[in-house]
Amino acid sequence: MSTASVKEHFESESADFDNLIVKLIPYYEQMITALVDSIEFGFTDTFRVIDLGCGTGTVAKAIADRFPNAEILCLDISPKMIELATRKLCTYKNISCIVGDFCTTSFETPFDVVVSSLALHHIESDGEKREFYTSIYNSLAPSGQFINADVVLASTAFHQTINIYKWVEYMSKSVSMDEIQNKWLVSHKNEDRPSLLIDQLKWLEQIGFTSIDVFWKYYNFSVYGGKK
Ligand SMILES: C[S@@+](CC[C@H](N)C(=O)[O-])C[C@H]1O[C@@H](n2cnc3c(N)ncnc32)[C@H](O)[C@@H]1O
Repeated sequence: MSTASVKEHFESESADFDNLIVKLIPYYEQMITALVDSIEFGFTDTFRVIDLGCGTGTVAKAIADRFPNAEILCLDISPKMIELATRKLCTYKNISCIVGDFCTTSFETPFDVVVSSLALHHIESDGEKREFYTSIYNSLAPSGQFINADVVLASTAFHQTINIYKWVEYMSKSVSMDEIQNKWLVSHKNEDRPSLLIDQLKWLEQIGFTSIDVFWKYYNFSVYGGKK
């Protein structure tokens, strides 16, 4: 799916995004807490963070609440998402929000922590994702961390079937089976480009990341990353 279509999709979903995400993503809040728990800084430390594909700013808010001295840059391709994030985060003086495509934006100052949640699976191919992880590595300060919370693929067809079954089971608690089958699984198939979790861990190692780990996992959703 093209970047323009991804942008259009999230522009149209933005108003209801915070209500939807908790219905569609299993244990979303727990996943975001796991991402924040993985940040290796002390509560009062000052450090620079970028949130790639920040949406309405939920991840940045969770980081700022835990680390009040962190300086956070939120980036999203959708102006409507950035408008909502700016509104949600307006009382946080150390957070700024900008519209931009993470694939083409370059930053001069290195980041201590690069985070992303449910966004990098929009990168079209494994090759492009690997290249992007390399540019993240290059944008990190020494000992910097990259932590990604995202939809991933299992290593076997059997386990992938279980993953999708468990995802549907979770969504069916608050969404009709008709909507799941005809809307959410269709858009997942057409728009999302998840990669095997095991491959992504290998790429991180090959790129030069260390301390690579999976910090949280619920079937096809996972929090993983490494250090420079
Ligand atoms: C499913 S939402 C997740 C939002 C947020 N990270 C969260 O977890 O609540 C994915 C977000 O990634 C953004 N996105 C997708 N591709 C992008 C790109 N190339 N550059 C910047 N943002 C992008 C979308 O606009 C959308 O806001």
